[in-house]
Amino acid sequence: MRTHSDEAVNLVARIDRTITMPHLIRRFFGHIRARSLTESEAETVRKCLSDAMAKLFFTMVPADQRHAFDVYQRSGSESTTSTAALMHDIGKTVAPAGAFARSLATAASAVGMPLRGSWAKYRDHGEIGAKMLEEVGADSFAVAFTRGHPGKPPVGVSIEAWERLAAADDV
Ligand SMILES: [Fe+2]
Ligand SMILES: [Fe+2]
Repeated sequence: MRTHSDEAVNLVARIDRTITMPHLIRRFFGHIRARSLTESEAETVRKCLSDAMAKLFFTMVPADQRHAFDVYQRSGSESTTSTAALMHDIGKTVAPAGAFARSLATAASAVGMPLRGSWAKYRDHGEIGAKMLEEVGADSFAVAFTRGHPGKPPVGVSIEAWERLAAADDV
């Protein structure tokens, strides 16, 4: 017979070790304290992206624009990975949620709780974003990174580029 303590052990065993409490707290405060892009940063984004992708980029909330731009800079501002850096969280545009709800959705997802509605969309923002990028003709690396982050690189992509971006995204 399963006991409550068995369930608790099970739950803890299912927690994704990359989602720690300090990580969630950092993300939470990073989101609420994020500065909007400056005009010169926004101009850099427009130069890196096609018109269709730039249009999508600026539909993200300012905090997500800031995160994407920071990932772009931390990953070396390289043209081969710029679209992936700037667009990897574009799927969050269909899952509007405040900083607290996002932290809860991340924690709930990490322990395997079933999610519905915009919470499920937030969890699935990688797959949703990858489809959006395919529709606007993004490069295959950007589509793959968007779909697969924060996981391991699929066969056929540059592992160096993937790990550089993953490290830049893991704040
Ligand atoms: Fe993401
Ligand atoms: Fe991200």
